[in-house]
Amino acid sequence: MAAQPDPTDSPIALPINLVLIGFMGSGKSSIGRILATKLGFHLLDTDALVVEAAGMQITDIFAWKGEEYEAKALAYLVDRNAKGAVVATGGGIVTRESNLPLLHRLGFVVELTASEEVIFERVSRNKARPLLHTPNPRETVSELLARRAPLYAAAADYTLDTSTKSHIQAADEIIAEARRRCETGAR
Ligand code: S3P
Repeated sequence: MAAQPDPTDSPIALPINLVLIGFMGSGKSSIGRILATKLGFHLLDTDALVVEAAGMQITDIFAWKGEEYEAKALAYLVDRNAKGAVVATGGGIVTRESNLPLLHRLGFVVELTASEEVIFERVSRNKARPLLHTPNPRETVSELLARRAPLYAAAADYTLDTSTKSHIQAADEIIAEARRRCETGAR
């Protein structure tokens, strides 16, 4: 008899894309990868689209025209009517007001947050973030976070603090909330 698929391996059905927003180091890429695996979705990353389109490294692009490219990447995903996708966005996506309706057209907008200490600890492990190539990166994180936190919150359908959660725990909570909202029609 042919092997039957193990139902525990089947992707979880979700009739909507998930769009992850949040500050650098909030966990968008790592949690996005797990979400995509659990749901059997594609992981689309606006930073990766920008790098591909511009043929430059993210460090060079963002010193130049990053936000403009990122808005184009977002518009491209909306035009393409992307389905079955987890979209991880760059931290600056909410700084353009015109991006906000596009985020909502793409799917359920999830804001990932973390405490300033956790953010700083996470971003310190990866030096490829041009915005933090400053004389005092700790202060830069603090200032940027204070400026942007209200923008992420205002753009989100749902907010999850990832400071003390494993990536898997965070992914499970996001899926449960997205399903609940889809079932109840609330978003
Ligand atoms: C940026 C965040 C980065 C990247 C670029 C600008 C920002 O993405 O898009 O360096 O303005 O916060 P991550 O949030 O994925 O690190």
